[in-house]
Amino acid sequence: MNKSQEILAVESESLPSSSRIKYFDMVIDHGKGALLYDVDGREYIDFLASASSANTGHCHPKVVAAIQKQATQLIHYTPAYYANPVNSSLLTRLAALAPGDFPKKVAVGISGSDANDAMIKFSRGYTGRSYIICFTGAYHGSTYGSITLSNVSLNMSRKIGPLLPNVVKMPFPDSHKMLPNESQEDFVARMWQAFMEPFETWLPVEEVAGVIIEGIQGDGGIIACPKAYMEKLYAFTRTHGIVFAVDEINQGFGRSGKMWAIDHFDIAPDLMSIGKSVASGMPFSALIGRTEIMESLDAPAHVFTTAGNPVCAAAAHATLDVIEEEKLVERSERLGKIAARFFERMQKTYDFVGDVRMYGLDGGIDIVSADKTPDVAATTKIIAELFKLGVIMISLRGNILRFQPPLVITDEQLNTGLSKVEQAFEAYQNNEITLPKDHQKIGW
Ligand SMILES: Cc1ncc(COP(=O)(O)O)c(C=O)c1O
Repeated sequence: MNKSQEILAVESESLPSSSRIKYFDMVIDHGKGALLYDVDGREYIDFLASASSANTGHCHPKVVAAIQKQATQLIHYTPAYYANPVNSSLLTRLAALAPGDFPKKVAVGISGSDANDAMIKFSRGYTGRSYIICFTGAYHGSTYGSITLSNVSLNMSRKIGPLLPNVVKMPFPDSHKMLPNESQEDFVARMWQAFMEPFETWLPVEEVAGVIIEGIQGDGGIIACPKAYMEKLYAFTRTHGIVFAVDEINQGFGRSGKMWAIDHFDIAPDLMSIGKSVASGMPFSALIGRTEIMESLDAPAHVFTTAGNPVCAAAAHATLDVIEEEKLVERSERLGKIAARFFERMQKTYDFVGDVRMYGLDGGIDIVSADKTPDVAATTKIIAELFKLGVIMISLRGNILRFQPPLVITDEQLNTGLSKVEQAFEAYQNNEITLPKDHQKIGW
């Protein structure tokens, strides 16, 4: 047993199985930029960035310094009662960063999940209506509200119902659902027809409060919504007085080669939820939205004792400084092109590499069998081999490689990581990969 395994053995006595998605026996000791080091001294290139919450990399010196400085001044006093300057100035900064030339206010929280709960609350509060529309393949979080909006794993609804009432799940226009030889236009028309069906049969449109969508679905497989569909959806919400909300928790802060995923669509949402990378992984989230919507509820409808924590807010200020100073959005776009070229080459070389979707340093790479259907077993082997080679990568939907390195990854680290991906693909092709005994199944 190595040190990681020893720690995990002890931890397993106290850790419930609902709290860890199974991958490999690794306990992280420290991180630096795009590199991670486990307690046994092994080094890894991180192609997961703590589930896209470390866009500025691990322990960025500016973020560390901001945290240290603030911790000596005030660790916390709840903004539910009294303001602190770091959080107050952050609200102004976040409001200015969100798309849309209209007045905005910002409600802070601790996790992406609570920001999406806020989206439900404020949409209902503002419109006086109850239905919320979300999409298949979406992951919006793990609290009761946001888990109700999520549609990626049966384990997120199994045994815990009833979930929130009046949440309607529409089919996401996922490119995997395109029919053979179907044009993009026909696909969008077909998906839009499916969207409209409930309104003709059982769902009164005047009772719909809000729609929440990820411009690019993250956990759903890194899949962008077709632009024409998004435009139809947005227009539909304008016609019917419905709040249009986007979830930027996974895709925001430069991940997709633009500051926000919704920037790919030139739409300014009424509400936008953020989290994860906003404070480089420190617990901080927010719902940013039109003032009139954000003023529709009264205290204490949305307060959390530890939200707006000054140490987290200081980390967020430093994170935003780093994103600006190091031009991480542009970096994501530039390095994303290198990665896209690499994976497209892999697609030409290996039959098991299916569709490749890359938006900035944000990729979903399908692993498929000879008949082009999802190949979960192959994906598992490739990810296991990558782990052996010192690259952290996970899967989405069982057969999609999730590529989301920190945006600060150096060109050299990126190229080294990608060459290890090629090595793993080659090993799989040559049938050289055997799985560790207790890792026949990974992911959710
Ligand atoms: C798109 C999206 N929304 C919301 C969440 C939930 O965020 P958190 O885990 O911080 O509650 C996630 C987390 O993976 C996410 O990817």
